[in-house]
Amino acid sequence: MRAPGRYSATCEASPNIALVKYWGQRIPEYNVPYNSSLSLTLDGIATRTRVTFDPELPADTLELNGRPAEEGPRADVSRFLDLFRERIRRPWHARVVSRNNFPTASGMASSASGFAALAGAAMAALRLHWGLRNLSRYARRGSGSAARSIYGGFVLWRAGRRWDGTDSYAVPFRGPDYWPEFRDIACLVDGAPVKSIRSQEAMQRSVATSPVFARRQRELRKRIGRMKAAIDYRDAASLFPLIMEECDSFREVCETTDPPLDYLTSASRRILDEVRAVNREAGRPVAAYTHDAGAHVHVFTTERRAPALARRLGSLTGVRETRILRPGPGVRWLRSAGSEDPPVKLWGR
Ligand code: PMV
Repeated sequence: MRAPGRYSATCEASPNIALVKYWGQRIPEYNVPYNSSLSLTLDGIATRTRVTFDPELPADTLELNGRPAEEGPRADVSRFLDLFRERIRRPWHARVVSRNNFPTASGMASSASGFAALAGAAMAALRLHWGLRNLSRYARRGSGSAARSIYGGFVLWRAGRRWDGTDSYAVPFRGPDYWPEFRDIACLVDGAPVKSIRSQEAMQRSVATSPVFARRQRELRKRIGRMKAAIDYRDAASLFPLIMEECDSFREVCETTDPPLDYLTSASRRILDEVRAVNREAGRPVAAYTHDAGAHVHVFTTERRAPALARRLGSLTGVRETRILRPGPGVRWLRSAGSEDPPVKLWGR
C-alpha cells in the first residue's frame, strides 16, 4: 500500500445563481430534480477544498474556514465521501480542509461551490479519470445545485428521465466569455433569517402541497427555451423579464406551500420594487432580480449600468452590501503537495 497522504488534491469551484430554479425532487435520495434548470456561475468568489485520503485515519475530519466543522456538515461530507469509497472499494477516510473566500451564508450558494470543489478534489485525489459530466453527476449527490458549478458561464442542468437519475447532470451552455458585459449585483440584506429547514425538505413540501407546482412544471420547458435564445443573442431586454417571471413563479410556489415558505425580508422586497422602478424609468428592461431560498437578492444587469445601479440598491434601507460579479469559471485544480505526483490511473473507467 502507498504511503498515507499520497492521495491528495485541491480543487476550487465558484457558486452559481439559478436563472431557472431547481425546486422539487423526482428522486429525493439522489437529488434528481423534476425540472431542468439554468444558471450562471460567478467570478471572484470561490470555495477551495483540499482532500487527503489517508488509510490510517480512523474517521473523516472536516475543517471549514479555519475551524473544525460541526457535526451536521461533517456528517454530510462523510456521506458524500462514502460514494467515492464505494467506487474505489476501499474504506479510507479523508481529511478535508475547505475555505470560502466569501462569507458563508452570505446569499451565495456555498453548498453549490462547496460540493463541486469537494467532488473535484476527491476525484483527483483518488486519480479517478472521470469527465466533467460524471463529476457533475457526483456533485449533484452532495447538493443539487453543485451539479451546475462544475462548469463556468451559463449552465444547463438536464433533469433527465431515467429511473436511477444517471442522465441527470449539468452541461455547459455558453461559457464565461460569451457575454462578458453580463453582471450580477449581489445584494446582501441585514437580518436575513437563518434557514429553518433545508432546501431539500422545503422543496418536497412544495411538491406535496403547492397547488401551482404542476402548472409551473408545465411552463418551464418553454421558459428555458426562450431564455436560451435570449442568451444566445445576448439580448438583455428579452432575458431580464423572463428571469423575473421565473423568480416570481418560484416565489409563488413557495408562498402557496403549506405551511408557507417565506424567504424574503422587507429589504429584499424593497430591492425587487426598486428594480421594477428602474425598468419603468428606463422604459425597457435594463435589470432583473432573482433570489433563492433566502433573503439576499441578485440583480442582473450590464457592465455599463452596474456601478450606478449597485450604488442605488446599496442605499436602500436594510441593504448591507452590494457586490458586482462577472460570469465565472468552472472547477479548476490547483497544484499542491501531493498533486505533483503524475496522474497515474489507479481506478477509473
Ligand atoms: O443547492 P440545493 O440543492 O440546496 O438547492 C437549491 C435550490 C435553489 O437555490 C433555491 C434553486 C437553485 O436552482 O439553485
